[in-house]
Order: sequence, then C-alpha cells, then structure tokens
Amino acid sequence: MNFTGSHILSVNQFDREAIEQVFQVADRMLPYAKRQKRTTVLNGAILGNLFFEPSTRTRVSFGTAFNLLGGEVRETTGLSNSALAKGESLYDTARVLSGYSDIIAMRHPDAGSVAEFAEGSRIPVINGGDGANEHPTQALLDLYTIQKELHAHGSTIDGMHIAMIGDLKHGRTVHSLSKLMCLFNNIRFTLISPKELAMPTAIINAIENSGHQYTITEQLAGSLDADICYQTRIQEERFSSQDEANLYRGRFRLNHQVYTKHFQSKTVIMHPLPRDSRAEANELDNDLNLNPNLAIFRQTDNGVLVRMALFALTLGVENIVSKFDQNVHWHVNS
Ligand code: NCD
Repeated sequence: MNFTGSHILSVNQFDREAIEQVFQVADRMLPYAKRQKRTTVLNGAILGNLFFEPSTRTRVSFGTAFNLLGGEVRETTGLSNSALAKGESLYDTARVLSGYSDIIAMRHPDAGSVAEFAEGSRIPVINGGDGANEHPTQALLDLYTIQKELHAHGSTIDGMHIAMIGDLKHGRTVHSLSKLMCLFNNIRFTLISPKELAMPTAIINAIENSGHQYTITEQLAGSLDADICYQTRIQEERFSSQDEANLYRGRFRLNHQVYTKHFQSKTVIMHPLPRDSRAEANELDNDLNLNPNLAIFRQTDNGVLVRMALFALTLGVENIVSKFDQNVHWHVNS
C-alpha cells in the first residue's frame, strides 16, 4: 500500500503487509512518545482536527501525535459550531478546510460522511470514526495492542480466540477490528451481545468467508479460553431514545468475579473506552483496575504511537523522523 498522500478511510484499504509497515513505524515512535527525545520532522505542518461528535482520547491523541512529530494542530469541535449547521455540504467544507492545513483527521456522526468529505479534500483525510460504520485507527491500535500483549504470552494473532462483548451492532470499533482480523489465520470469535445488538451480517459474512470460526451467543456463560476479552459500551447515541438504550446498559458487567468465573487467568481485558462507569451500566468495574491483564491504558498509549506512524506515512516522512532529533531539557517520567 502506498501511504503517501492517501486518505485512510477504512480498514478495507489494508493488507497484512501494510499493517506490518504501520506497526514497524509505530515501534520507532516510542522514544518520542515517552519524551526521551523530540523530533521536528513536521515543523510547520498543520493538522486540521475536525471532530463533529464527542471524543476525548481519539481527538487528543491525534493532536498529541502530530505535536510529537513537531507539527501544529488546529481544532474544530461540534457540529453546531460549524457551517455544516448552516447547510454547507461536506464537499464545500472539505474544499475550504483542506486549503488551511496539510492533513485532516475527522469524526462525524454519519456513516460514510468522512469518505464523502474526503472527495472534496485536496489533502489526506484520516477517518476518526464515521457513525456506526468504521474506526480504522482504533482498529489498528487495538490490533497493535493485541499483538504486543499476545507476544508477551508467547502467542500470536494467528490462531487467537477473541470474545467481543456488548453493543456489537453499533460499535464501529468492533466492526473495524473484526475486518482487520479477517486478514489473519484461524481466528476464533465469540460474539456476545443481546440479539438486538448482534454483529451486523456483513461482518459475520466477512468472518465466515475468510475461514474463521465464530460463535454467536446472548450469554456470557461457561469458561471461555479466550486470549482477549474485548468489552464495549452500549452506544446510547445511536439509539432512538435513552429508554431504548437503557434496556441494554448493564446487561454485561465485567468485574473481578465475572472475569475469574468465565476467563483464563491470562486473558487480556480490552475496551476502546470510554467505559460507562455509571452505576446502571458499570460495564468494566474498577475492581479490575489493578489486574495486570487490564490493557485499556496500554491501548490509549499505543494509540499515540499508531497515529504518529499514520501521520509519518501519509506525509511521507517515516524514514527521516530521526534526522530531526533533538534532546529534551525537562524532567521525563519514563
Ligand atoms: C469509541 C468510538 O468512539 O467509537 N471510542 C474511541 O474512539 N476510543 C468507542 C465508544 O465510544 O464507545
């Protein structure tokens, strides 16, 4: 895959070689992310960070990643604060905003909207989540995390067993991650959700057509020899009413007792975050916070590395980052 100058809109653009390329560049970003040294390779470059839907870690980590490469970040947040609320088309907004920066990261509540925006853009656009459709950078950071966590246990993505739990219908992170995992061999998927929130048929077909095994169930039951337990939030913003979302919030609560009953002592616990910690949901209990298998904050740290890699690749500087190294002068907590 030729990254330079390309949009990153969907995981469908990736093959295993492209994934490996992203992961290798991400590995090289660690000293910068840990502030052991800095680079100014993107000095003067501007990221347009357009978030038309709520976000904390995706928006801030895109911005952080760009800053860590020496670039500057211009933020636009909220649909109601933009001219889209005055009826401007995504095409026009893209034509305009792509004149103001070198690359754009964008999130929008409608499926397909980021691709539509990209058609009007003169610069690369990275999809930070389009409705219930896709979240390619999250899938890459999740897969990067899975690879690292499994490597520490002496195993690989090929042959792994993943349990995905919760709102598999509206969760774009599980859609993109499942599609990426289809590129690997002999994966076992256990898909646990209320039947109304089951994984979309198109994703099931992709899993089946790539020769993987899957089980669909409404219950978290028995003991699962899963390598990864991937918990998700009920995506309340995608329901027609809060009351409807409330039917499902709290259905699957993962806490120490549930984890010990259903999973192996080495099962890695993941969640794209935010976890809904309100009492009526509490989908991932604080009593797991000190469990060494809880990888949620390793995921968020890895997100910076993967997003730095994607910026370096799309702007064509992946091989010259260290030419612009500088020492840091402040106290660093490594
Ligand atoms: C996810 C998203 O926005 O799709 N969050 C994220 O980007 N880390 C998952 C969610 O909001 O539940």
